[in-house]
Amino acid sequence: MAVIIDGKKHSAEMRKTIADRAANYKSITGKDIGLAVVLVGDDPASAVYVRNKIKGCEEVGIKSFAYYLPADSAQEQVENLVGGLAEDDAVNGILVQLPLPGHLDAKKILSRIPKSKDVDGFCEENIGSLCMNEDCLVACTPNGIMKLLERENIPVKGKNAVVVGRSNIVGKPMALLLLNADATVTICHSKTRNLKEICSRADILVAAIGKAKFITADYVKQGAVVIDVGMDRDENGKLCGDVDFEAVKDKCSHITPVPGGVGPMTITMLLYNTVTAAERCL
Ligand code: GUN
Repeated sequence: MAVIIDGKKHSAEMRKTIADRAANYKSITGKDIGLAVVLVGDDPASAVYVRNKIKGCEEVGIKSFAYYLPADSAQEQVENLVGGLAEDDAVNGILVQLPLPGHLDAKKILSRIPKSKDVDGFCEENIGSLCMNEDCLVACTPNGIMKLLERENIPVKGKNAVVVGRSNIVGKPMALLLLNADATVTICHSKTRNLKEICSRADILVAAIGKAKFITADYVKQGAVVIDVGMDRDENGKLCGDVDFEAVKDKCSHITPVPGGVGPMTITMLLYNTVTAAERCL
């Protein structure tokens, strides 16, 4: 039976340190650390994420500024809001919840977030820095996975890492982080041939596919570390991951469950990035 990586435990421990850092910032500057959260439209899943992000801020003593804009907001209106937050000294981090309504140009809106306040790590400058292995703000889910590996004392250097999924939010930054940590990295996607064979050679397998229980035991090497980024629904509508947990758990050395693995780390890393962004201005 594998070690089940407890994301909730790691997340709670990290939040204590983040709260101490936020308190320390306040004692030095006399100011709260501030995070601005922008939600455009009424997508229910996005509304839940935003609510949890605001709750996370309260828990660690970060001041949140929430902006709820109607779904039919004009491009200029959203850009002007983000542009104003970029200039606002009370705001250390800016987050624009994605996806944005289809008529908006997300790329142009995100480009109004300065590199130093880009706590999601989505802007081109931060992705460029990550690519160059320079210190920068890194996308929360992949950065949270690196923290889980580190905190579980799982070595990465020299290991074969396979990332299934090539999204800008998870797959690509994940692959870059593993590469920067000296893994030998393969990125797979929907057009990859021999996916099962490639996955079954991985020492570290990261599944960010979006298909319930796609990764079965055949995809997993004996003793591998399996990281499940999926948030899917099984045939009974129950929350599950991209990995068939029951089939894989006896074959791997470590596995993240869904729920309770990678998920709890994502918002914690947003809080971590916000405190880091603020400290860099000290
Ligand atoms: N939508 C889904 N995941 C994320 C995320 O990590 N950040 C933002 N801003 N939007 C998202």
